[in-house]
Amino acid sequence: MMKGLTQQTRARGWRLAAVHALGLAPLFWLGINLAWGAYWVNPLQAAIQRSGDAAILLLLASLTCTPLSWWRGWVWIGRWRRPLGLYAFGYALLHVSLYVGVDYGLNWAWLGGEFGEKPYLWYGAGAFLILLLLALSSPHWIQRWLGKTWKHLHRWVYLGALLALIHLGLVVKGDPLKLRGDVWKPLLVGVGMGVVLGARLLRVVIRKLRQG
Ligand code: HEM
Repeated sequence: MMKGLTQQTRARGWRLAAVHALGLAPLFWLGINLAWGAYWVNPLQAAIQRSGDAAILLLLASLTCTPLSWWRGWVWIGRWRRPLGLYAFGYALLHVSLYVGVDYGLNWAWLGGEFGEKPYLWYGAGAFLILLLLALSSPHWIQRWLGKTWKHLHRWVYLGALLALIHLGLVVKGDPLKLRGDVWKPLLVGVGMGVVLGARLLRVVIRKLRQG
């Protein structure tokens, strides 16, 4: 009995370490590359790009947790959804802060001009606002306080992910819909999101069919 409990505690500790290692790996990688001068041509642009990549990949990883826990019966991976989602928000915050605060020095007039010229910024801003709302409402006491509304609110994550995907699709030099240019990133993320959403919809349909 005691041995079983110790093993369980150890497994929980390893899983906790693994999810934080996954969340912190992009920051570590970015730091090492910046320190080694790998991004010497334009370190700020590289940091904006790499933090954006980390945000969208961790968002996708967070969305994958629930379908994976259904499919494999791994209850523990369902618990990774929240920390991975919060890491995704952390990288999105870094991405936006570097762009707005460092690149544009909080010059709102200049930023306003950019938003007028680059529609992809609006999609990014929409995605960021949704992630911000979800992160602010993530503490357990807010979850308890909001009750069912919390669940409805957190379904917005799919809209946030879609907006982030469109943002990425418009940023890259190429046309993801025509498979032309440098489009592998949005394609990969798009297929991942399609699989996750497909799994969710399939589950709803199966439940409905079983009920009646
Ligand atoms: C107010 C919100 C946002 C702004 C102003 C913004 C701005 C930008 C800019 C200017 C770029 C182009 C960087 C360059 O190539 O020089 C970019 C790229 C990107 N952004 Fe955002 N972004 C926002 C929100 C987000 C969010 C919420 C995500 C993800 C969840 C995201 C993910 C990405 C990705 C993946 C790229 C492409 C990076 C690459 O080229 O590999 N962005 N963003």
